[in-house]
Amino acid sequence: MDIRSADRANSLEEHWMPFTGNRDFKENPRLIVKGEGMYYTDHKGGKVIDGSSALFCSPAGHARPEIADAVHAQLLENSYSAPFQLGHAGQFELARKVADLLPEPMNHVFFVNSGSEAIDTALKMVMAYHRANGEGQRLRFVSRERAYHGVNMGGVSLSGMVKNRETFPVVMPNVVMMRHTWTGKELFCDGRPQHDGVELANDLERHCMTYGGATIAAVFVEPVAGSTGTLVPPVGYIERIREICDQYGILLVFDEVITGFGRLGAPFASQLFGVTPDICTMAKALTNGCIPMGAVACRDEIYETVTDAAPDNAIEFFHGYTYSGHPAACAAGIAALDIYEREGLFQKAAELAPYFAKAVMGLRSHKLVRDIRTIGLMSGIEVHPGAAPGIRGQEMQKAMFWNGCHVKFTGDTGIVAPAFIATEAHVDEIVDRFRYTLDQFAAM
Ligand SMILES: Cc1ncc(COP(=O)(O)O)c(C=O)c1O
Repeated sequence: MDIRSADRANSLEEHWMPFTGNRDFKENPRLIVKGEGMYYTDHKGGKVIDGSSALFCSPAGHARPEIADAVHAQLLENSYSAPFQLGHAGQFELARKVADLLPEPMNHVFFVNSGSEAIDTALKMVMAYHRANGEGQRLRFVSRERAYHGVNMGGVSLSGMVKNRETFPVVMPNVVMMRHTWTGKELFCDGRPQHDGVELANDLERHCMTYGGATIAAVFVEPVAGSTGTLVPPVGYIERIREICDQYGILLVFDEVITGFGRLGAPFASQLFGVTPDICTMAKALTNGCIPMGAVACRDEIYETVTDAAPDNAIEFFHGYTYSGHPAACAAGIAALDIYEREGLFQKAAELAPYFAKAVMGLRSHKLVRDIRTIGLMSGIEVHPGAAPGIRGQEMQKAMFWNGCHVKFTGDTGIVAPAFIATEAHVDEIVDRFRYTLDQFAAM
């Protein structure tokens, strides 16, 4: 089609949308014209409650003036300065604030622009550490079935979701997979399943026995697998993974892009589970979703080993992005973390979690619902598949939007994860919209 000859003023054609059925969307678009607090307004004037904090990004709700004002002031003060060999105050302040939220001894923070970049950066950090530590033979990575670690080549190499990798076969070699943790034994589980935690984690040990523990560089896990539909690790799982890593000198990387910044009711999943990783990736809620930003935090030992190994005055880590620690992103991050602290939002999330769990579990008897998993302010409501896996989920996401609620679906699972400013009434509204949509589909 010659799109240039068409009426271009309202054309949707030029923008190639990410993770979207472009042809389908452009036939019947869903455009957001405004976001405020818990709600969006669509282009037809409809009010839509946000059941997924957009994409798990906005715990403080939408359009917070404090963040907008901070970014505005920053752009007038210093709109951009090079991040290599130059610094600005915001980078250091935000790094200190992030480190304060993490368990000791995770005191060093490297800024990036997204979760995918955080994963690639973590992979390189792992390689740099082992090389500096005289263990350059550790070249194998361990990931997990159903994992989502973003879309850059590093993240795709670690990916356990088939649609995200089948088109892209040329990825990093030497990645092996553990099993995912959803066994189907404990359906409708509120919190951590009781069964098989150690047994599933022992997959890592089997890889050590197969390939040699001293050849494995790192294991990457989402503490709660998010994008695949909220798979909560069974009791003992995370602890056993840590134990095996310690035994074989393997680095443990937590991908906390979704779980970071209070989603589970603690600042990070590592505090909730009482397990400290060596490296932790984060993004999304770091700026309340206002400006793209991610970060990678690591233990002191990793930072010190890499920096001490380089000659005096030399660059120690040949890595960084033009927009690492962008002034506007740092201003947004500082303002967002201030809101979280001032309003006690992580605590609010923890307090709302039992009500939330009960409300979403209220959908369990619906005939279309196959399973519900929930932890903190994050749940996966899985429906029985329709004609083919994922089709019903996709159709439900669209229908739910027109029914006044945004919920992000992956495959056939709706991931309900409201902002931490949500009230019990907001939770009820989201669950009611979900139930209404289920009823519509059941009647088809
Ligand atoms: C666990 C995890 N890692 C990485 C990413 C990638 O983040 P981004 O989309 O910002 O690149 C995501 C995104 O959802 C994620 O959930």
